[in-house]
Amino acid sequence: MNRLKNSGTQPFKSHRVFNNWDVVAKGWYLVCPSTDVGPMAAKSVDLCGQRLTLFRGEDGRVRAVDAFCPHMGTDLGIGKVVGNSIQCFFHQWRFDGRGACVDIPCTDHRPEAARTHGYATDEKYGFIWVWPEVEAPEGVPEYPELAGQEVVFEAGRPTYYPCHHHVCMINGIDAQHLRTVHNLAVDMQLDIDESSDGRIVDYLMRGQWSDETRRERMLRRLFGAHYAYRMRYVDGTVGLLTTGLEARIGPNGPPVPAFRMIFAFTPLAEGQTRVQPIYVAPKGTRLREQLVSRFQLFGQKRGYYFLKDEDGAIYSNIRFQNGALLPIDKAVAKYISWTNRLPVSRWSTTHQHDA
Ligand code: FES
Ligand SMILES: [Fe+2]
Repeated sequence: MNRLKNSGTQPFKSHRVFNNWDVVAKGWYLVCPSTDVGPMAAKSVDLCGQRLTLFRGEDGRVRAVDAFCPHMGTDLGIGKVVGNSIQCFFHQWRFDGRGACVDIPCTDHRPEAARTHGYATDEKYGFIWVWPEVEAPEGVPEYPELAGQEVVFEAGRPTYYPCHHHVCMINGIDAQHLRTVHNLAVDMQLDIDESSDGRIVDYLMRGQWSDETRRERMLRRLFGAHYAYRMRYVDGTVGLLTTGLEARIGPNGPPVPAFRMIFAFTPLAEGQTRVQPIYVAPKGTRLREQLVSRFQLFGQKRGYYFLKDEDGAIYSNIRFQNGALLPIDKAVAKYISWTNRLPVSRWSTTHQHDA
C-alpha cells in the first residue's frame, strides 16, 4: 500500500525496523528450494531488494554472493561454477563464497576493489536460506524440543501478500481477530518471553473454548475444552508455531501430540512478501510413531488451510497503522517494540527513521 496515500489526513508513520521496507533485519531468509540449484550450478535471485548469485560448488555446498561482478557488473548467475568458486561469464574473473577474487586470467595482479560480498547460507527443510552477513550466529531455527532428532517435514504452497512480512507475522498473535475473523470466541491468556540476546520472542496463548460458536463446539468435541498454542518468532523472519499443546482426543481422552509448522517470511521486493509454510513432526522409527508423524503433518496442514483464506483478505488489504492500540493488543505492541530493536544488515538501503 502506497506510503504517500492520505498523507494530509492519515500520514504513514515509519518505524526503525518494524514494517520498514528500507531496512533488512539480520535473520535467516528462505530463498528457494534446494533443488533449484543443482550440482555445480548457479542461479541469481532477488531478495530484499538485493540481487544475489547462489552457486553449488564441487563440495556440494551452496554459497551466496552479491550478483554484480565488481569488474564491469555482469550478473554472476550466468557464469560457471569452477571448483568452489563462481567464474564470471564476461572476462572469467573468479570469486569464492566469501566474495574474494581468486583468479583474473589475464594478470597476476588483483586490485583491492576486485571483490564482491559473500553471505552465510544454510540448507534446511528442503530449502536454501541466506543470512545477510558473511557469518551467521547459528543455523536456521529449529524447534528446541526436536533439536538433534530426525524430523519429517513437508512444504506447503507459498502465499504472496502485498504487505510487509512483519505485518503478516502479527496474525499469529493477534488476540481480537480470533473472534472477529475466525469465529473463535476463546478468551486467551498471554505469556510473553524474550530471550536474553533479543533474537527470540515466545508467545504462549492459552484458554478454554467457549460454547458460543459452532466451530468451538466442534473443536471442543474433537480436542477437549482447553486450547493452547505457542508462537516463537526468531529474528523477525521465521515463526515456529506449535498448536494443540493441551489438546486431547475427545473431551476426556488421551493427549494429542502437538502440531508444528514453520512460517518462513521472505520480502522479495517492496510490497511483495512470500510466506512459505513448512509442516514439521518428529520422525518415528516404529510404524505407530510414523503414523503419528503423518497425522501431525496432515492435522497441522488442515488447520492452517482452515484459517489461511480468512486471514488472506486482511493482508492483501492493509496499510498498517498502530495509532490506537488497546490493552488486548499487548502481543502486537510487544512484537512492534521487539522488531524495532533487531540489528539491521547491510542490505538496508537507509537507516533513517521517524519512530
Ligand atoms: S565483468 Fe565480470 S569479469 Fe569482467
Ligand atoms: Fe488468523
